[in-house]
Amino acid sequence: MAEQILILDFGSQYTQLIARRVRELNVYCEIHPFNNVPEINDDIKGIILSGSPCSVRDEGAPDLDLDSLRGKLPILGVCYGSQLLAHKYGGEVLPSTIREYGRANLDHIDLHHDLLKEMTHGSTVWMSHGDTIKKLPEGFKVIASTSSVEVAAFKIEGEKTYGIQFHPEVTHSTEGKNLLRNFVVSICGCAQDWTSDVFIDATIEDLKSKIGSDKVVMGLSGGVDSSVAATLIHRAIGDQLTCVFVDNGLLRKNEFEEVLESYKDMGLNVIGVDSKQRFYDALAGLTDPEAKRKAIGRVFIEVFDDEAHKIDGVKWLGQGTIYPDVIESVSVKGPSATIKSHHNVGGLPDFMKLSVVEPLNTLFKDEVREVGRALEIPEKIIGRHPFPGPGLAIRILGDITAEKVKTLQEVDHIFIQGLKNHGLYDQVWQAGAILLPIQSVGVMGDERTYERVVALRAVGSVDGMTADWIHLPYEFLGKMSNEIINRVKGVNRVVYDISSKPPATIEWE
Ligand code: XMP
Repeated sequence: MAEQILILDFGSQYTQLIARRVRELNVYCEIHPFNNVPEINDDIKGIILSGSPCSVRDEGAPDLDLDSLRGKLPILGVCYGSQLLAHKYGGEVLPSTIREYGRANLDHIDLHHDLLKEMTHGSTVWMSHGDTIKKLPEGFKVIASTSSVEVAAFKIEGEKTYGIQFHPEVTHSTEGKNLLRNFVVSICGCAQDWTSDVFIDATIEDLKSKIGSDKVVMGLSGGVDSSVAATLIHRAIGDQLTCVFVDNGLLRKNEFEEVLESYKDMGLNVIGVDSKQRFYDALAGLTDPEAKRKAIGRVFIEVFDDEAHKIDGVKWLGQGTIYPDVIESVSVKGPSATIKSHHNVGGLPDFMKLSVVEPLNTLFKDEVREVGRALEIPEKIIGRHPFPGPGLAIRILGDITAEKVKTLQEVDHIFIQGLKNHGLYDQVWQAGAILLPIQSVGVMGDERTYERVVALRAVGSVDGMTADWIHLPYEFLGKMSNEIINRVKGVNRVVYDISSKPPATIEWE
């Protein structure tokens, strides 16, 4: 990718949000840890210094050689980034008398400055800081204030270096996007031409030159990431790519057949492998969730390795890794360029010794979806809810049997179809059913029954890190309960999970 903004991360929980906001402006950006600054070349048009949970006054606080950057290209310090600028050049950063947290208003804005143009007096901004800049160094000028924070924004005179105490990346800062646009477009001069189509063309060219005439193998899961990654690789090298889609017996009802069909329609060279029994055998008698996960992971690797061996001379392993898997906010104590490594380590299955190709490792989930749509991947794949790798195994509490899987598949199918038919599916981030390891009493005719209980779960979320249960209409829940109990043999009770994450999690195991 050519033109870009460099975001230096000091460990703030909001750093990824800064990157998302910049990319929403069609400007490419990358996050790098403060202690591993890449070489500054002509492609880098500006730098954003992120916030941090630390104080610049802490011993060993994250630091940066600002002299080597200042004046060479535009810099925007956000929160900690702005305090670092003030602190290092002779200003005074002190603990706030009260912790500034929440909404505030910019009562005074100096609208002459490029950074703040077209913002409005009184603009709401989001504050979250324990320190305040009490005194600015020589040559630094206040350009915005709130009633309690005099230095809400500053500029260094004679250079394109700015600091802001608030967080423009958080949507509560109502004009935050304007400010970021002012920085990346007016001040850094970025052309805003980074789009899905540009990404697709550049990635396909890159894949072509990287892979050449080699062969690639890739596991598909039916999910968005692996489907989009495979499609890009396929566009670049055609049938030199072989995809493997494994039926682990823990997928949703009819999912294996339907998704396999879609992949074939999309022109992918895909091998469907029915390994249901191999997984059920490995899971037999296991009740501990981690033991179940490990068994599934192990068998998957065995199956995949068997298939990879059938392809002559394969050199590359395709993966659907996305950006959040690659970066994590720096733990302020050390660097965290957490790139998964699969390089020729002894003891790994043969396919893991392949070189890895990850065409989506610079994209966020919503960007992956956009690219998928631009590639005309069917909406039923792009719009799917996330589904855990171990599948229904972690939604059947206790041990797994083929019969329990069948029961849960039927329940899950009624629920998911119901959400779709009632126009609720797209309002939900993730939904499913859980088979509980208890029996409950019921009456059927004159008989008492002891049958299974299922829980339904539907949550809203942005990234799965936090989630809220969805207030599905009672009428809909009632309808689902009736349909499930009437149609699925062995189930006589349906409950709805009304827990949020935290403190609960999305899955029950
Ligand atoms: P939790 O249950 O931790 O789930 O709130 C967060 C997200 O992760 C998915 N999940 C998994 N995905 N392997 C996966 O590939 C797993 O073992 C696993 N456990 C949870 C979950 O479905 C949700 O989207």
